[in-house]
Amino acid sequence: MTSALAAPRVLRLHTIALGCQMSAADGAEMSAPFERRGFAQAAGPEDADAILISTCTVRQHAEDRALSLIGSLRPWKEADPNRLLVVGGCAAERLGAWLRARFPYVDLVVGAKSISEFPALVEQALRARFDGQAEERDALPPDSPRFLETGSPATAFVTIMRGCNYSCSYCIVPAVRGRELYRPAEEILSEVRAKISAGARELTLLGQTVNSYASTFEGRPVRFDGLLRLVDAVPNLLRLRFMSPHPHYAGDDMLSALAQCRTACELLHMPAQSGSDRVLKAMRRNYTRASFLARIEAARRKVPGVVFSTDIIVGFPTETEEDFQSTLSLLREMGPVSAYCFKYSPREGTESASLPDDVPQGVKEDRLRRLNELVDAMTQEALRARVGRDVEVLAEQRDFGRTRDGFKVRWDRPVEPGTLQRVRVASATRRTLMGEIP
Ligand code: 5AD
Ligand code: SF4
Repeated sequence: MTSALAAPRVLRLHTIALGCQMSAADGAEMSAPFERRGFAQAAGPEDADAILISTCTVRQHAEDRALSLIGSLRPWKEADPNRLLVVGGCAAERLGAWLRARFPYVDLVVGAKSISEFPALVEQALRARFDGQAEERDALPPDSPRFLETGSPATAFVTIMRGCNYSCSYCIVPAVRGRELYRPAEEILSEVRAKISAGARELTLLGQTVNSYASTFEGRPVRFDGLLRLVDAVPNLLRLRFMSPHPHYAGDDMLSALAQCRTACELLHMPAQSGSDRVLKAMRRNYTRASFLARIEAARRKVPGVVFSTDIIVGFPTETEEDFQSTLSLLREMGPVSAYCFKYSPREGTESASLPDDVPQGVKEDRLRRLNELVDAMTQEALRARVGRDVEVLAEQRDFGRTRDGFKVRWDRPVEPGTLQRVRVASATRRTLMGEIP
């Protein structure tokens, strides 16, 4: 006799994170209540019972991408109304009510400030939708071995703080993410240990101004440098990174911790935004060109082998060609190995949105092009300097990993993700070192 019972169906979740690493970390965090309820990861939208989008609103372009993605999922949702479409993150915070009205087929809209309420809201939505359906935890395949936020089995993110107490005049983040909130060090350490037990060998500590961290450990105050030391001491961790520091908090304590921690990697992201003191002041960045470069010099002195990356905005209101030249010269002095360069995008409600967006689009594009040319040349120089050398790589995939100073490396034969490999660099493409395992 054969059983008439069909095998229980495994429900699947597809997570899409747009924008920065915070959004990727939020996407993973928002996926957790689904996973706890037994959802497996879908290969793509088509085999998903639920889609979760973590949105970004930092520039208009990012928000437009989120809206067009939500729009494009309408047929997916209409093909089966039992499917669940959830939109979270920064654009959801900024546009909440408007989003609900514009895309009525979205089941749940949860803004970035409400992430702590997310598990309860999801549970509610899932109960209404999936209870009584053929859903069974026991029927699950084993947990996927990769970390959702990075796609690698060996690297994971740990959010240590949320929000931002700054008021950079161009930036929407303080409005959509709120004031700074820090997680207690004990809580961070237990997530660190759990992720290492699950296979992580490299961790990236995340926060909007990650190095302004200030909380407690065992009843005593702990700041960012202290947290780096605590995480560094956890067994089996090979590499520690963090994103995104604010130059104002990159003091000697942080640099000493970077120099002394065994796992702390020699790539420091220092967002400059501009090289013109006049523009930096209008941006309310809280440092000058000279004080910024002094921090870079201090880092070079204290942390052997350190390299830098940065963020730059071109075309901020009133930016002249002379201001832009100051940005180019700041980059030459700083010598970053990579930079994320953006055209200024006015964001509703920010201080600078009330200024005329007076740098013509064509000029912004031209400055962005010239800036990217300089950055590409600096990246190329750094890559070329590594050709012919042996580098130590942490394998994030079987044929892909990074050096401690952040260079991407590909090689010729499969290795176990999570292991350190010596790779002989034979050549370089535009952004990647190509090598062989000697
Ligand atoms: N326009 C252009 N770029 C921006 N950024 C933040 N806000 C804006 C804006 N309104 C950039 C900054 C920041 C990075 C995450 O995004 O360079 O460091
Ligand atoms: Fe935005 Fe400035 Fe805060 Fe960074 S420090 S998130 S740029 S307000």
